[in-house]
Formats: sequence, C-alpha cells, structure tokens
Amino acid sequence: MTINFNPNDIRHVVEADRTHLWHHLIQHKMFETVDPRIMVEGRGMRVWDATGKEHLDAVSGGVWTVNVGYGRERIADAVREQLVKMNYFANSAGSIPGSLFAHKLIEKMPGMSRVYYSNSGSEANEKVFKMVRQIAHLEHGGRKHKILFRERDYHGTTIATLSAGGQPERAAQYGPLTPGFVEVPHCLEYRNQYGAIENYGEAAADAIEQVILREGPDTIGALCLEPITAGGGVITPPKGYWERVQDICSRYDILLHIDEVVCGVGRTGEWFGYQHYGIKPDFVTMAKGVASGYAAISCTVTTEAIFDRFKDDASDSMSYFRDISTFGGCAAGPAAALENLAIIEDEDLLANTTAMGERLMNNLHALMEKHDVIGDVRGKGLFCGAELVADRATKEPAEEAKVQQVVADCMAQGVIIGATNRSLPGLNNTLCLSPALIATTSDIDAITDAIDGALGRVFG
Ligand SMILES: Cc1ncc(COP(=O)(O)O)c(C=O)c1O
Repeated sequence: MTINFNPNDIRHVVEADRTHLWHHLIQHKMFETVDPRIMVEGRGMRVWDATGKEHLDAVSGGVWTVNVGYGRERIADAVREQLVKMNYFANSAGSIPGSLFAHKLIEKMPGMSRVYYSNSGSEANEKVFKMVRQIAHLEHGGRKHKILFRERDYHGTTIATLSAGGQPERAAQYGPLTPGFVEVPHCLEYRNQYGAIENYGEAAADAIEQVILREGPDTIGALCLEPITAGGGVITPPKGYWERVQDICSRYDILLHIDEVVCGVGRTGEWFGYQHYGIKPDFVTMAKGVASGYAAISCTVTTEAIFDRFKDDASDSMSYFRDISTFGGCAAGPAAALENLAIIEDEDLLANTTAMGERLMNNLHALMEKHDVIGDVRGKGLFCGAELVADRATKEPAEEAKVQQVVADCMAQGVIIGATNRSLPGLNNTLCLSPALIATTSDIDAITDAIDGALGRVFG
C-alpha cells in the first residue's frame, strides 16, 4: 500500500501505523476496525493522543517508566548538548556522562561499586546471568551455574530472561527455554501456600532453602528476585522474608541478584526497593526509571568483590568479562540519567513519593470498604496494586475480561491505569498503579475516583 504523507494530517500517521507497525504485547485483529492509539504529546502527568484526548497517566508511560513526568526540558537539553558534543563511542572507552552518572549512582548505593551499561532491563539481567555463569566456570568447574528465580517474578523478554521468569503466560510457546534456571515459590501471603503458620515471610523464605537443598547448594550460583514483584501482581514481601533470604544466600554461598528494573530510582520512595529491607545484594539491575524513558539505558551494578573476580588473573586471556552491548556506549543514556537523578533530588521527589504513596494506599483501602470486588491492596510508594476477586471469602480471582473492562472504563474517563497482563493463567486480576513521582493529591484522588466509578459500573 502506498501512503502519501501530509505531515499535518494525523490520519496519515494512523494509517502508516495500522499498515506497518507491530505493537508490543497486543492482539492486532482489532485494528481492522478501530484505530491504533497514538500518543502525541506529554506534559507532567498528562498525555494527549492523536484524537486530541487528554489522559491522566497513572502508570508512567504504561509500564512504570516515566518517573519524573513528561516534557522535562532540562533532560532534553542535556541530551541534546551531549549528542552534538559526543554521541557515541563503544563502552570499551568511557564517556563524561557515563563516568559521572556511575559516580552519582554509586553514592546512592552503599556497598556497591561498579556500573555496567546496556540498554534494556532484560539485557541488564542477562549480564548478571553471564557473570554468575562465568564465576561458576572460573571458580567451581562450571558446577555452581544454576540460577534461581521466583514464581510470579519477571526479568525480561529474551529467551534467557524468560527462562528466569515466573510468569508462564509470558514464556508459553517460546520454548525450548534455556536450561539451568530453577523456580522457587512466590511469597504472596494473600495467596497463602503454607496454611496457618506464625511467620509467613520466614516460611516463604524457607521454601527457597528447600529448593536449594533439593538441587544441591553446590550447583546454585545465584538467586534473582524483584524486591517487590511488579507485573506478577505487585507483591510486597511479608515480614521476615528478606532477612531470612539474605541469611540463606550467605549460608549456601549464593549470590543475590536484585532486579530493580521497576522499583529502582525512586519508585517506592527510596532510591531502590531493596533499601527498605536492609538487603545487601551482590548485583542490582535497573532500567525503566533510570532516565525516565528520555533515553534507553540500563545498568548492572555490582560490588568491588565481584568485579575483582574478573581481573584476578591477567595472564588468563579468557578470565575477564567478555561481553559488549553496542548501545551501552550511547552517551545520551547517562546524560539523561544524570539530569533525571538531579530532578529527583532538586524536587525532593522521594519524599513526595512516600507522601503520595500513602494517600494512594489510603484511597485504595477506602475503595476496598466500598467495593467487595477488591480482595487485597498492596504496594510501597507510588507502586500499588489492587487484586480483584469474584468472592472475598474464597478469593476466587475476578474474571480477566472484567478486570480489563475496568481498565477500559478508566481509559474512557481519561485516566490510564494498568492491570497484570498475560502473566499467570487465571491470575491476571490485579489493577496496577504507578503514577509519576511528581503526582499531587488531586492527581491521586482523580485516579482513585476513576477506579471507583469503573468498579461500580463493571461489577455493580
Ligand atoms: C522487573 C522487571 N525486570 C525486567 C524487565 C525487562 O525490562 P525490559 O523490557 O527493559 O527489557 C521488566 C519489564 O517490564 C520488569 O518489570
């Protein structure tokens, strides 16, 4: 099909999209009868689509990314300045923003010391998997190579990260997956797996230990966990969980990899989610909020002790980390990230996130009083979820189609919310909220008012 473009006519953009674009995570049949949605402009918490409709964005760009909000000229200016000076050189050499951002980042992460750049959350996680595997080969004859991941967690979209994913609907039909990844049980107390026990967090951590003992501790190199599970249902860890997990990792010499791709850089009211729980990780990965989507950047951060293991033996030409990410050398990423971090500091956005997060949780609890369909609300900072159930007593999950109707109803009201999506069979039933860290009380109230109306209409 030939399209004659008139840049002032948005219909041509829509047609080009319909004809040539393959959107992410979406069934395309519907675009034969409805137009694909095209976002045209963003300011602060709001975006405008190609029809001119204004939306309040309660999910920071759909997938918890635009932490400092839209239209930040100071980030755009910093990126432009950097691009015209020096846009790219392979990261075997350094760059000015690359070094400065690494320095700033490490200041926020006591105990950590080295930053490895790449450009997506999946890639950042794969770097850890490669480091763990290489340590296994360098120090344990290849034996300590297995990587544990948790049911309901997500670590990315590549085949290896899908192999480390606890969300079966993401991995289905993409096998065979990569060997050497082993699942441990989730820690969601609302969906109790251990019956009446005193400390659920400790029991959930002990379940990890059982998997370690079953597999053999000398075969396991690392445990990879989200500090708070995001797309698997916004699962905040139960009390006692993280202390016990840390203890288990130390006992069996298992490296702890915390995936901060969602929680990182302010989302939960601390710089990093793990910092709420006193965790001492060996690896931390981050992506989405690092530059709030103004440039593609991800970071794999580790300790000096891990780093040293890759420069132990300079005479062995195979002993260093033989990995490259071409676009990990793009200077726009760290230039945007530096400015993004400065905005969070200058505008005291961590404190705002904590305060607005409390308001959001309070509002959700008030909605829970009113709507029986809300079975549980969970979250930390501006990262919250409401699990919808058909029956509070049995906790039978609400029908997925109805959960999606709630999302659609909010969209019709001009408020974009999310829901767990193609994650766990029968359990894609949690509404997800992750407004930008600049949210105000009126934004928060507008979001929960929209959900209130939607729940009333969809569930009665
Ligand atoms: C916790 C977590 N880790 C990793 C990823 C993968 O990040 P990316 O899509 O940038 O590869 C995601 C994406 O949603 C995520 O939620």
